[in-house]
Amino acid sequence: MVILKRVNDIEEYLNLKRVKGNQIGFVPTMGALHSGHISLVERCKADGGVSVCSIFVNPTQFNDKSDLEKYPRSVEGDIELLLQAGCDVLFLPDVSDIYPDGEAAMPSWDFGYLETVLEGATRPGHFRGVGQVVARLLQVVQPDRLYLGSKDYQQCMVIKKLAELTGMKELRVVICPTQREPDGLAMSSRNRRLSEGQRSVAGLIYQCLVSIQAKQGSAPFAVVQKECDDLMRAKGFVPEYIALAHADTLELLEDYKPGTPMVALIAAKIGEIRLIDNLVV
Ligand code: PAF
Repeated sequence: MVILKRVNDIEEYLNLKRVKGNQIGFVPTMGALHSGHISLVERCKADGGVSVCSIFVNPTQFNDKSDLEKYPRSVEGDIELLLQAGCDVLFLPDVSDIYPDGEAAMPSWDFGYLETVLEGATRPGHFRGVGQVVARLLQVVQPDRLYLGSKDYQQCMVIKKLAELTGMKELRVVICPTQREPDGLAMSSRNRRLSEGQRSVAGLIYQCLVSIQAKQGSAPFAVVQKECDDLMRAKGFVPEYIALAHADTLELLEDYKPGTPMVALIAAKIGEIRLIDNLVV
């Protein structure tokens, strides 16, 4: 695996690969890699061409500065995992490579409605930051294919919209399934921060999503939502939202709508740690 830190170096390296007829597949990450990230790298490799992974903890997408400071970092372990997965290129830039003229000088894209609901509403400015960094990374890597995990359902929608807004018509955005622990907990870098006690109840988020899915047709969504809220609070969670939405537009639904593609989404804090998950209903 080649590890490149400077924008010029990776641009030069990938240009040579492109000239030789290689396609480029790209997995952007913030590090603290787990099997979910590695499944994206594996899919990227299986699709052929040169596989590129980036590790960059992007300051502009953290609306809470203490969340940024506490975000887990484990570059050496990450390199080991990427080597084992057979990743071809690791891009490991600094803030000054990504934002050479400062963060404020970067263009910011408007994602409209998506910025006003769920993650957009609870983390103001978050998607602006995601848009900024992903646009910059795409500008540098110029991939043919971009691999994202569906755990970040709304982020996937935002990045697809970014590709439209920036006119990247050729870019194929490949959304891959959420990887889960045996108790259903969605794999996430943040899981490392859970205490033993918090970890022992964290699978409840997925159980709630499954019950929202299973009770379609037998109970109104408001009743199931309340049951989930009570269950989660009893185990020490503070739910931020337990929502049902149109799977294509994220328009919030008050009740199940048979025949409509739907997704259930939950965000909750346990102690200081904020977890999100979703399930297509
Ligand atoms: O999902 C993430 O890890 C980040 O939001 C991303 C897409 C790498 C942008 O920083």
